[in-house]
Amino acid sequence: MQAFNTAIGQDIDKAAYYLNRGDLVAIPTETVYGLAGNALDEKAVSKIFEVKQRPYFDPLIVHIGDMTRWQDLAKSDDADALKLMQLFWPGPLTLLLQKSPLVPDVVTAGSDKVALRMPNHPLTLTLLQKIKFPLAAPSANPFGYISPTMPEHVMQHLGGKIPYILDGGVCEVGLESTIVGKEHDGWHIYRPGKISRQMLEDALGKPFTLKTNPMHIVAPGQLKSHYAPRKPLYIGKEQLPLSWQNAKVATLSFEKPLPIANANPSLILSPTGNLDEAAAKFYAALHLLDNSSADVIIASPFPETGLGVVLNERLKKASNNTHKQ
Ligand code: TXA
Ligand code: MG
Repeated sequence: MQAFNTAIGQDIDKAAYYLNRGDLVAIPTETVYGLAGNALDEKAVSKIFEVKQRPYFDPLIVHIGDMTRWQDLAKSDDADALKLMQLFWPGPLTLLLQKSPLVPDVVTAGSDKVALRMPNHPLTLTLLQKIKFPLAAPSANPFGYISPTMPEHVMQHLGGKIPYILDGGVCEVGLESTIVGKEHDGWHIYRPGKISRQMLEDALGKPFTLKTNPMHIVAPGQLKSHYAPRKPLYIGKEQLPLSWQNAKVATLSFEKPLPIANANPSLILSPTGNLDEAAAKFYAALHLLDNSSADVIIASPFPETGLGVVLNERLKKASNNTHKQ
């Protein structure tokens, strides 16, 4: 793998320069930072898998900078799909559609469906309009690790492996896009996100079924362990095993501190109980705790309502890390 002296900056021309050469650039989106390369260039796409150490069976989302561009990459005469694009793009919704031959198989892991999204971030939209090709971009973290919501997160884990990080500040939403698709039996949500089931059902007047059964992996966000810190993470009232009795404990909670003596750090995501704020700060908090001197993280579950449901899903996956004792 090529080594780089990774730079962070807001220079869209520089980002375009590297992408035009077939190199990778980390890009800001409203959800999380993406590790982007030319989606139509197999070599660039292979670099994404290599840098991320991502298995080739895990397909990539393709990002477009213009509402009409999806027609180059996918075929659909589905009025519902069009309606979803019109209502939610640019924004945190990814649509699975029948792919066109233009999209290399390596992008979709051999599937005949491609995942498309128009992100809502001014720098990345300008960049996409400048380069004239779509960008394949998974979240810019090593496979299975916590998603990045700030340029510093990308630098810590992918620094030296890519030439440039386009600095678009802190991601506003903070959780990955909602992924939806239509099958013979109707609409499904493969990964929950900010665009909720209620919003989708209201938009189409049709039911959406949550389909995150890890037995037939449609989207690896569906894998049991994902978005996970390296430190073991336990949720809420789970009894800490005795082996942790003398361990240094850090805590993460929604509104009120967890009643655990000497926890350090003890992070509260939103003292006012605002789930949007908690979502925006969630991954950054996990990064901070994972970088702290604590041995183990204890997190409280979120209220099972609205974005809290999505946060609990991510938290559960973060807690399924393999080194847990
Ligand atoms: O918010 C987001 O979606 C972010 C930003 C960067 O856009 N991206 C992101 O990408 O979360 P990633 O690769 O970390 O997660 C994308 C998910 C994966 O679980 C992948 O399996 C699924 O989308 N996916 C992509 N293409 C697919 C396809 N053709 N069929 C089924 N699932 C697909
Ligand atoms: Mg990811």
